[in-house]
Order: sequence, then structure tokens, then C-alpha cells
Amino acid sequence: MCGIVGYVGFEQAAPILLDGLSKLEYRGYDSAGMAIMDEEDKIEVVKAKGRLQVLREMTDSGHAVPGVCGVGHTRWATHGEPSVANAHPHFNKDKSIAVVHNGIIENYQSIRDRLVKKGYEFISQTDTEAVVQLLDYYYQGDPLEAITKVMVRVEGSYALGILFQDHPGEVYAVRKDSPMIVGHSEEGNFIASDVPAILSHTKNVYYIENMEIVKLTKEGIKFYNIDKEEIEKEMVTIDWDAEAAEKGGYEHFMLKEIYEQPKAVRDTISPRIKDDRIEIEELGMTEEEIQKISKIYIVACGSAYHVGITAKYVIEGMARIPVEVDLASEFRYRDPIMEENSLVIIISQSGETADSLAALRAVKEKGIRVLGIVNVVGSSIAREADNVMYTWAGPEIAVATTKAYSTQLASIYLIAILFAKVRNTIDDQAYAGYVEEVKALPDKIQTILGDRERIQWFANKFASSHDMFFIGRGLDYGIGMEGSLKMKEVSYVHSEAYAAGELKHGPISLIEKGILVVGIATQPQLYDKMISNMAEVKARGAYIMGVTNYGNYEMEDTADFTVYVPKTNPYFTTSLAIIPLQLLGYYTTLAKGLDVDKPRNLAKSVTVE
Ligand code: G6P
Repeated sequence: MCGIVGYVGFEQAAPILLDGLSKLEYRGYDSAGMAIMDEEDKIEVVKAKGRLQVLREMTDSGHAVPGVCGVGHTRWATHGEPSVANAHPHFNKDKSIAVVHNGIIENYQSIRDRLVKKGYEFISQTDTEAVVQLLDYYYQGDPLEAITKVMVRVEGSYALGILFQDHPGEVYAVRKDSPMIVGHSEEGNFIASDVPAILSHTKNVYYIENMEIVKLTKEGIKFYNIDKEEIEKEMVTIDWDAEAAEKGGYEHFMLKEIYEQPKAVRDTISPRIKDDRIEIEELGMTEEEIQKISKIYIVACGSAYHVGITAKYVIEGMARIPVEVDLASEFRYRDPIMEENSLVIIISQSGETADSLAALRAVKEKGIRVLGIVNVVGSSIAREADNVMYTWAGPEIAVATTKAYSTQLASIYLIAILFAKVRNTIDDQAYAGYVEEVKALPDKIQTILGDRERIQWFANKFASSHDMFFIGRGLDYGIGMEGSLKMKEVSYVHSEAYAAGELKHGPISLIEKGILVVGIATQPQLYDKMISNMAEVKARGAYIMGVTNYGNYEMEDTADFTVYVPKTNPYFTTSLAIIPLQLLGYYTTLAKGLDVDKPRNLAKSVTVE
């Protein structure tokens, strides 16, 4: 949450920072600001409450703030309401040091109290201001000296971009448990919270580790450890296209990313299926190690957690390994009893989600093997897991995930089939059948996208709903959970997912005339039971949208509106049945005139607890 970007080079900094921030707005959009060193080497700070567009207009797209060196910030408010005073960058008292921050300074209050006693005045309610004032307190002309003193005194998580007025043409940055990359190009050097911010300038990046410091100048980049010793870093080339982080003719990133799903799923599965055999070298596990796994824990947040719900059914069903699925925010504090031969799978698009990262570290302390299923190459979870299986979704910008979720599912299928084969819980024929079905998923997803106009029509009809329910059994319950999350997070319609068998234990009392209930029924052995549950809510006045497979046409006797998805093996239907529900969330939001890519109060990358 919060995005930071910094630049020093041969071009004007402000337009570059604004462009970078526009790619980071998914990390927060409560306010935006920049600190630029002008030609007289005074730091000028401009900031505005609200979207980046306000800052853009205020600064004539950056042209009103000249200078070749600066840092920028887009904020997701944690400490202090969204306001100009609380917007970053923050200054010290004589405006000679400016700081942008992503993360949370946990001991900010005690730092503040200490400094107030020494005569410091605070003008914002942020935790970040404690950092800049503490820098001021320790600064005696040597930026590295002051920064390292501050680093050992602040607790919590931070990625910081810092300017010192008496060190013109230098940008300092540091991180601990908040993401930050460093980019290098002919036109200058960069820091950023995430790759898309600098992708149109360079694909050459360095990853900085916790407690490392970087100094950017026009001419070069220097890295230091906490002891102020210079260290060497290896440059890595990112293979994402700059266009991949643009809307490319689509009205919104969310729709673009929904449409990219066939390709993203294909890119994720193809390199791992050779001659119709699944090979996932990145797992780094021998057959013997796979056979020995006694239990799998899947730990994640948000939609990635919903992938875990699907994974439980698929892995337990196919490979007969018990699977426990946990929300990372719960898992990290519950001290689970873990057997030695357990495997923990952390699923994360960003690879930076604070709770997932903390869960990973807790597991590693117990000496249990951790596999990361991660989209962002070089992210913290990717680097800290014992092994990482990358999902090849490309940059995902819309706050509500679609294509990353789909590639995470595809990764889970590959793992489940591979484990089942190695553990002999499926025969050769079943193995070949599953591999065929997985390979066919991208085309089938493409087919469903063709139904978009019908779903748009339906979404328009129900856009004024106050409440919706998504019901299903088995894997269909997991689909309902993700469908319901898509709906509520972007359209603000209150929606809940229920295991259909639980309806009679409470939620059916909420059903009244006109309430939309989405019934998902793709699992043959549970189909009749689902139809009965749908009939029960219909009898109480609900309007029913059904999602089922081609061929189940009698669904129309119960549902008022039915969406059909191609047939596949029941284990894999999540990948198909979720598509209409993503579209339903998208079009409901559009019909309500809301900003689908940037829903209120949310940020894509949740890097604080
Ligand atoms: C946020 C995003 C979701 C995502 C979740 C977990 O809530 O909006 O789309 O599923 O975080 O993020 P991760 O990056 O760990 O997958």
C-alpha cells in the first residue's frame, strides 16, 4: 500500500514521476505528492488530496516543477485521514530533507514524543513524519550516517525515498519489509515500489534486500549495507513488456486483464507440460520427497486464499494428501502444529502481502519447506520461499485480481496432477485425461468471454441491488466465494457466499422478493442438491442466476437467467465458472458508474497488516 517512485537523471523528473505514479495508483489513491530539487537546489514539495489527476493538473503535468531529481508518492492512508497535511512527501522543520514512505513505523509515537520534548513540531498525523524529523535530528551533513542511525531506531516496515537539500542530484532509498526496486537506464536511475512504474524507461533492475541502502545519482547507483560499506548487486532484466502495463485500447485494466486470461493461463501451463507430461522443475522436489509429503498447508489472502479453497478439493481429491487452507492473517498468529514432512504453499500475486510474508517467515523458522506461487518476479515471497513457481500472468494493475487468480489455479492443477501421478493415486489414463483437460482450458475460457454481452445486459438489470448471495457446494462453493468477492470489492453491492447446505442454518432468513441469488452448479454429484437449494430460495422470492455446464439445460426450469460454461473435468471448472462472475462484477460496477480499477478504500498490494 502506498506507491513510491524516485528519479535522477538527464530528463525533467516531475513528468517521469507522475507517469511512474500513475502505474502505482493501484497501491493507493488517497493523495499524491512529489518533492523535486529545482535548479537552485531547493526542494520543492507539491501535494494534493485525492487522485493523481489532481496533482497532475496542479503541476501542469509536472512542467510547473522543474528539476532533474525527485521522489513521488501515492498514498493509501494508514495513520491520519486523507488530507494535504498527511500527504507525502514530508519535510523536516527547515524543509531541507523530504521523505516519501511506504509501510508502517510502529514506534512512531515514542519517537514523536521524544522529539517533541526536544522542541520538534509535528504538522501531520502520519507515522512517516517521525522518520523525517528523526533524520533531521541525526543529520550532520552525511546522509548515510543519518539514515543508518534512523534505520536502527525505527520499528516496523518501510521503503523510503529521501532527498537532502545539501546533496543535490542525489536520491537515497532504503527498505525493510516493504517492496522497492532500483532501475537503471541511459536517461537516469530510478527507485520504485513495483516494476510497472519504470517499465517504460527500463527493464534493468536491481533488487535491494532488507536493511540495505541505495544512493542514486545521474551517473550511477551505489548500494550500502547498514554498516555503510559499499556492496555489489547484480542487475536483472525483467521480461515484461512495457505495453503489458498499459490499457491497450480497453476501457479499464480489469476488462483487459479478464480478456488476457486465456493467454496468461496458457503461458503458465505450457512451459510445464512437455510431451504431455508435467514437469515443474522449480518445485525442486524429488519423487521421494513428493511421496513423503504428509500434509499441505495453503496460506494466502483475498483471492489467492480462494485459490487455496479450490486447491483443497483438487489436491485432496486427486493426490489424496490432506490439505489445510488458512488465511495468512490468521495462520501467522495461531502457532499451527506442523509435521516435519509438511509442505507449505504460499500463494500471492504481488509476493509482498505483509501477512503472507510473515506466515512464510514463521514457517521457515520451524524448518518446514515453503513453496511460493507468485506472480511478481523477485518479490519478497519469491525470494524468501525455498522454491518458487512463477505464474506468468504479466503485470496485473486492476485492484481486483482476475488473470493472476486464474494462473494461480492453473499452477495448482499442475501440482495436483503431478503429485497424484508420483504418488500413484491416479492411473496413466486419468493422468493423460487431466493433462488434456488442463491444456484445453485457455480455449474454453476464450469461449466464455464471447458471452460478455448477455452478462452485461443482466448486470445492468441488477445494478441497483443491495444484497446478493452466491451459493454452491464443493468446488462451486469456492467459486461462489471468489464471485462474491469480485462483486463486493468493485461494485460495493453487499454480497455473501454461502455453502448451499448452510442456507437453512441462517442466511435463508435474509431472502426476500427480488434478491439476486447466484447458484453455481458444475459438480455432477452435487448438481441435484444444488437445484433443490436454488428452488428453495426461489420459492421465497429470490431471483436466480444459474451457472452450470453446457448440457444442463433443465437448469432453466429453476433459474431465471442461466450462463453455461464449456464442459471440463469437474476438478477444473473453477477456471471456467469464475469468468462470468468476473464479468458480472465488472459490468455491475460499470452500470453504477464507479471506478472499477480503483475501488474505494482498497489497494492491490497490502503491504501492511
Ligand atoms: C488484495 C488484492 C487481491 C488479492 C489480495 C492478496 O486484496 O486486491 O486481489 O487477492 O490482496 O494479494 P496477493 O498479492 O498476496 O495475491
